[in-house]
Amino acid sequence: MNSYFLADKLHNDGNLTDNEFLKILYETDSKFNDYLAELARKKRENYYGKDVYVRGLIEFTNYCKNNCYYCGIRRGNKNARRYRLTKEEILSCVRMGHGLGFRTFVLQGGEDPYFTDEILTDIVKSVKNLCPDSAVTLSVGEREFESYEKLFKAGADRYLLRHETADADHYAMLHPADMDFYNRIKCLKNLKQIGYQVGAGMMIGSPFQTKEHLLKDIRFLQELKPEMVGIGPFIPHRDTDFKAKAAGALSDVLKLLSITRLILPACLLPATTALGTIHPKGREMGILAGANVVMPNLSPKGVRGKYLLYDNKICTGDEAAECVNCMKNRMANIGYNVVVSRGDYFGWGKNVTIHG
Ligand code: 5AD
Ligand code: FES
Repeated sequence: MNSYFLADKLHNDGNLTDNEFLKILYETDSKFNDYLAELARKKRENYYGKDVYVRGLIEFTNYCKNNCYYCGIRRGNKNARRYRLTKEEILSCVRMGHGLGFRTFVLQGGEDPYFTDEILTDIVKSVKNLCPDSAVTLSVGEREFESYEKLFKAGADRYLLRHETADADHYAMLHPADMDFYNRIKCLKNLKQIGYQVGAGMMIGSPFQTKEHLLKDIRFLQELKPEMVGIGPFIPHRDTDFKAKAAGALSDVLKLLSITRLILPACLLPATTALGTIHPKGREMGILAGANVVMPNLSPKGVRGKYLLYDNKICTGDEAAECVNCMKNRMANIGYNVVVSRGDYFGWGKNVTIHG
């Protein structure tokens, strides 16, 4: 069957058979990607119009007890310059971000045992006290059910935990033996059960990734139905085992963004910093391929150059205000508007359905 026909089918039905998905995953015609992007854009506009939600990203610790083979802040990287923000420093980022129009703050960090439930719940409560009109998203890795529950009760609204790959064998090629694929999936299910808006996701072009793995990712996303999906290219970091591996291809990232929009039409889908790193217009292309979220960095200037998951990360030398303005201009240039809003999942907390 012709790929364009399959794109229409995916747009109409929100699904394809395994062989049909593989056919479009293997498709190399660049015009085909443009067609898929057009359908994904149409779909996102049914739910979110031309609005782009912004999230203020605060990278509050780069200490990490894990040693993922791909990541620049893994514990084995002796060259990483480690830092931790204090609660006051985090709150001052939030205060500044609120003034700039942010209504979601993403607290992201490595898996840093310093941030016990007690310390982290206190930080979440303090952010919510300071900005009761804003959402708090956490991205601090795998924790116990009880820990996720305490953080939720403290006021956290959303949680990002990429599944990284939905194939257990592939997971084991990207992570050391002390990291368990099934625990990660369990964490995502726990987060859902507790009531978070949950984000899963994967790198595109990670070492050893095949199209068949991507098909598994698609099936996993369809089953979990996360409210958010983080998708960006793998980019090598010089101090990792994967330093000599190729980065993920722009066209593959854009294709997966479009497919994700078509299978989960209302999802919150960021055009990531990593996408902006592999192409100067990567984030714009991401939005035009169906993404609807951008995440400018609010971390203090002094630490930005230290939260390096991969090489050549963009925006490490810019002030938050500069990044925000840059992002507004970038979105306006392609006909989209950055809005001042919490930007919850479509219909979240209400009983709304939409067809289309
Ligand atoms: N390239 C791209 N993305 C990366 N991440 C970690 N290391 C890299 C890299 N080298 C992503 C992972 C993780 C998220 C916080 O950043 O998917 O979940
Ligand atoms: Fe950070 Fe452009 S978004 S400088």
